[in-house]
Amino acid sequence: MATSLEVRGVSLRFGGVRALTDVGFAIRAGELFSIIGPNGAGKTSIVNCISGRYKPTEGQLFYQGRDITGLTPNARASLGIGRTFQNLALFHHMSVLDNVMVGRHHLLKNNFLTGSLYWLTGARKEELEHRRKVEEIIDFLDLQSVRKAQAGTLSYGLRKRVELARAMALEPRLILLDEPMAGMNFEEKEDMARYIVDLNEEFGMTVVMIEHDMGVVMDISHRVMVLDFGRKIAEGDPAAVLADPHVRRAYLGEEDEVLVDPDDAPPAQESAA
Ligand SMILES: Nc1ncnc2c1ncn2[C@@H]1O[C@H](COP(=O)(O)OP(=O)(O)O)[C@@H](O)[C@H]1O
Ligand SMILES: [Mg+2]
Repeated sequence: MATSLEVRGVSLRFGGVRALTDVGFAIRAGELFSIIGPNGAGKTSIVNCISGRYKPTEGQLFYQGRDITGLTPNARASLGIGRTFQNLALFHHMSVLDNVMVGRHHLLKNNFLTGSLYWLTGARKEELEHRRKVEEIIDFLDLQSVRKAQAGTLSYGLRKRVELARAMALEPRLILLDEPMAGMNFEEKEDMARYIVDLNEEFGMTVVMIEHDMGVVMDISHRVMVLDFGRKIAEGDPAAVLADPHVRRAYLGEEDEVLVDPDDAPPAQESAA
């Protein structure tokens, strides 16, 4: 199966802080891959290295076989790497529709410079095509009823969903989700989990997800990687990772504390083709 992303020996330091130390892993195209670990373990840092927001101190990243280590975030977005943020980053005064439209700016050939030629060039046709795509995503995420609403007026759960819509609008092949369910109630989490599974299965997007809710992670992930103090301490199918004594010690704090009984964890799944 084709490799979507390969991270090779990535280390990241901020002054004296070692955020990441020699982290390596590979993600297959079509996989739903989760990253877990305690607060400060380096989860957001590794996602920032993938998106290009952070430049690794050491190591390399390959996307679809191509070395992207030196590329800017915009260049990576153009190659099909999309993301959402741990903290919401929406334009609160803008409508849901316009927030999602913003996600397509990488795909806009005509910008404000050609705006004066709007009716003469292909700009109008292009905009219609963008609108159609955006509406498709809004339908997919069941945001029709709030499409004209100001983003800032929506519930937290809905705002997280709008953020996902905006990331999807880029039509990424690889989507990075940093705690997409943080702060959500049970119902909102269930909905979000279903959308993530669907965008993986129906849209065929490869997913890298950081998530704290172990139940959700174990339910929907094909594979899980565990970071602790900036190092990878485990990687594998959810059941195996959950049963790993290192993980239980690091992640659960106490050796004998049980969050989810491994016997209750879903059986190891074949990752999607
Ligand atoms: N921009 C930054 N400047 C300084 N230190 C940072 C920065 N980003 C992350 N760190 C540090 O790197 C470590 C890992 O952080 P982070 O990747 O955010 O962890 P996680 O997402 O797993 O909670 C922490 O010690 C954090 O304080
Ligand atoms: Mg984080």
